[in-house]
Formats: sequence, C-alpha cells, structure tokens
Amino acid sequence: MADIHLKNTIDKACFVTLGPRPMNRNRVSEPTRPSIRRSASLGLAGLLALSACGDSADPETGATDGEASGETDAETNGARQVSYYEHVRPLLSEHCVSCHSDGSIAPFRLDTYQEVAALGPAIAAVIEARTMPPFGVRADGSCRDWADPRWLGDDDIATIAQWVEEGTMEGDPTIEAPLVPQLPTLEGDGIERVALPNYTPHASPEAGFELDDYQCFLVEFDGDEDRYLTGFDVEAGNDKLVHHVLGFRVDPAFLGNGETLEKLDALEAGPGWDCYGAAGEGVLPQGVPVTWAPGQGAVHYPDGVGVRFSPGDVMVVQMHYNLLDSQGMDQTSINLQWADEVEREGFQILWDPFLFSSIGGGGGETLEAGAASVQYAWNASFESMLSLDGLAFDSIDILGLIPHMHSRGRSMDINIDRGDTMACAADVDRYDYNWQRTYFYEDPITVGMGDRLDVVCDFDTTGIDAPVAAGFGTQDEMCLVGIFFAPSE
Ligand code: HEC
Repeated sequence: MADIHLKNTIDKACFVTLGPRPMNRNRVSEPTRPSIRRSASLGLAGLLALSACGDSADPETGATDGEASGETDAETNGARQVSYYEHVRPLLSEHCVSCHSDGSIAPFRLDTYQEVAALGPAIAAVIEARTMPPFGVRADGSCRDWADPRWLGDDDIATIAQWVEEGTMEGDPTIEAPLVPQLPTLEGDGIERVALPNYTPHASPEAGFELDDYQCFLVEFDGDEDRYLTGFDVEAGNDKLVHHVLGFRVDPAFLGNGETLEKLDALEAGPGWDCYGAAGEGVLPQGVPVTWAPGQGAVHYPDGVGVRFSPGDVMVVQMHYNLLDSQGMDQTSINLQWADEVEREGFQILWDPFLFSSIGGGGGETLEAGAASVQYAWNASFESMLSLDGLAFDSIDILGLIPHMHSRGRSMDINIDRGDTMACAADVDRYDYNWQRTYFYEDPITVGMGDRLDVVCDFDTTGIDAPVAAGFGTQDEMCLVGIFFAPSE
C-alpha cells in the first residue's frame, strides 16, 4: 500500500515538470552523490538508497556518520583530564551561550557549572547528533561548504563526550571566563529601522497551538524608485518570545495578492493576521529576503548583491512566538539596509509543485497518513522556475537555499540535476520547522537554464488519520525550496 501510494505521489510530482531523464549519470568534480532514480520501483529500494545516501562517508576520516570519529579523538584526548572551566566552558561560550543565557530564547542557561553539569548527558547527546547549535544542513563537507556553519568540530564533540563520561569534573574556577562572541551587526549607510506593531502573542489551542503563535504584519514603504535590500537585522522586542522572523517580499499586483492581503487584515481586530505556512492563507510571495532566528545576528547578502523592491512592493513579516518560557507583549524591529543601485540584482524563487497542486481549486496532491516515512519528490528545470517570474538568464549563481516544510517534515534531499550527473546542493538531514533560515554557500553553484533542481522531501505522518494535504495551514504540508540567486557575471 505504502509503496503504491508513494509511487503515485512521486510519479505525479515528477510529471508536473519532468522531462525524460537519462539513466546513467557520471560523477562530476563538484560534490556529487549517486543519482536516485524515481521510477515505479521506488519503494523499499528507493528508501534504502536514500538512507544509504544520508550515511555518506566522511571525506577526511572515511568513517561513516553513524560511527562517531570520537573513538580516535578520545584516544588523543585520553591523556588529559577534561574539566568544565578549562575545556568545556570555552566551547559552550562560543557555540551555545548566545541563546542559552538569561533572558534569551532557549529554555535554560548553559553558562554556569551547576546547570551545565546537571544537563551533561543531554548536552553531549545534542552536540553529538549535531542538532544543537541549530544548523539544519549537513555541514561536514560531504555536501557543499556553507557560510558560517555552526557545527562543532569532531574534536570538540569528543571533548564534551569525554567530560560527561568522566563525571563532569569542575576544575579551576579562577580560570578567566571566555568571551561570548559578538553577533554580526549591520554597518554602513542606508539602514532603515522598521518597528512592527505592539502585539501580545497568545496560544490558540483550537488551532493546535498550545505554545506558539504565528502572526503576520504588513510593512509598506514610501518612495517611488526601485531600491535594493542588501542586508538585514532583527531586534527582538522580547528575546524570550521571538523564535523566528521571516520577511516576505509581496507584489500586491501579482495574482490577486493585494485583495488577499486586505481580506486577511480584515479578519482580526488587532494588528496583523494569523499565518503559518508563509505570508498567510493564499498570499503568493515573491521571495523571503529576511530569514532570522535568535543567535544569528545581522545578515549581509554576498558582496554587491541586492534584492529589488519596486514602488508598491510590501513586506509581510511573519513572527513566530514561542510561549514555553514567557508571556507578554512584544514589539520587534527589523533593520533593513538599502542601496539605490547594486552590482548584481539578487532574485528569489519559491518553488513547490506540491503546494502548487493545491492552488486554484480541484483536489491537490496528498501525503499518505500514518507512515513514518512518506516522500514527495519534484524535479524542475531552472528555465521553467524562472519563467514564472518572467526571468531568463544564460546562467545563474545560486547563492543560498531556504528549505521549507512544516511540522511533519523530517529531511530534504536537494540536488542539481545536470542531465548526466547529480550534484548535491543541500543535505537537510535534520530539518526542524522552528529554525527557518537561508543557508548561504561559501562558493555559489553555477547552473544553466537546462539544469534542474531535484528535491525529495521526507515526512513523518505517524499519528494522523487522514491524508495530509499541501497548503499554508498548520495541518498542511509543503515541500518548498527558496532559491536565492544572481545572474552569473
Ligand atoms: C541559535 C540559538 C541556540 C544555540 C546557538 C544553541 N541552542 Fe540549544 N536550544 C535553543 C532553543 C531555542 C531550544 C529549545 C528548543 C527549540 O526551540 O528548538 C534549545 C534546546 C536545547 C536542548 C534541549 C533539547 C532540544 O534539542 O530541544 C539542549 C540539550 C540544548 N539546546 C543544548 C545546546 C548546546 C549544548 C548548544 C551549543 C553547543 C546549544 N544548545 C546551542 C537555542 C539554541
């Protein structure tokens, strides 16, 4: 049953944009992976191929991900005794304390010996699994190099594991406290501070939100000239509440967006409207130039690149509030850095054939209910994706990606399909809806219009009785990739 459904979903998905695909692909010099062919036989075999792919060998040690390289590291560390003040505190200060300190978003502090020692095994576990610090794409060099990856090195992971194993020794408290690194800030001219309305987030148990609130606010701009966004920062009003901030660029003239925004705004008495999937039910954004989560600091787009806002374009800001630790009012501000001109215009395309299937009436596609692993796959040429926005270039440089699913999304496997080769573009093997962001490449990926983006989303629908639809709502799912690019020079 599961396989049949999977096959149907995938065949349909691929049918949307898929041409004939060559069977044999060669490896190319960019980081590659075996091609995963989706065909009638993608059932168990396909799943096995996928999990094999996730377990790729560490290029340096040859060890697979499953077996931590801790063994060898533990040997080198074995001679010394690991203590909190000497070895552990500097690592946590660098990688954890920006969020895990008093008044910040994380639910507990990691800057005192007592707290850290009490949580030792949990800390070792999340560090080992590399789910903390949150950075959802695999950053061990097996699939691209990322700007500012947050992953701890294997040696540091081994140090913390050893400290916990040896009984969390305190060590010498007179050792000077390490500095917590400063987050990047915006510098230079053209910074505009946009204050969002005062808002008191509240739970909506009837909508399934016991501890979270997602609220969208409309930001309009003056001026009658094009201008370009080159970077941004967020000043959370209440650090304990603000879990993420997304700023969508919306052209009100695009497919009824203007009317949809008016309707949404009229639905609620106070400022803004409820939203979850993107900018609100039915709004079709032109990109997400702002993606921010705590502990991130300012983002500068790659040198010379800016995203154009034309007169009339608005920004819909989605605030995600988490009420686990705190309640109360918030007023967050967003700092936007503008330039009148840029060397290269940056563009964003949000693509999701699964979501598209649900738009415009008629039943959309669905995911099978009650399965620990349900996949949705799509494959689309850059030519077709760009043409929806009326864009065409000889080639483009992909600067970064935004992987986006909802709460049932587990992983996303994103590849560049160059016809005869498949190259890894992002291995999102620890997806967490709570951490929405743009992952920027260290070196952009150049693609031609005939190249394709190949995406496999994996969902866990355990505990759900009815097929899961695509859509913007909390119970719906998406298999969306935001592509941030600039035309090649
Ligand atoms: C960018 C902010 C941020 C950074 C950096 C960060 N954390 Fe977290 N951490 C959180 C938040 C927020 C939570 C609460 C769960 C959530 O929202 O994902 C959390 C939860 C946890 C948990 C509870 C288990 C879990 O996964 O929910 C542990 C343990 C943890 N963090 C340890 C660490 C350690 C150790 C580091 C550094 C190596 C670290 N964190 C770095 C924000 C952060």
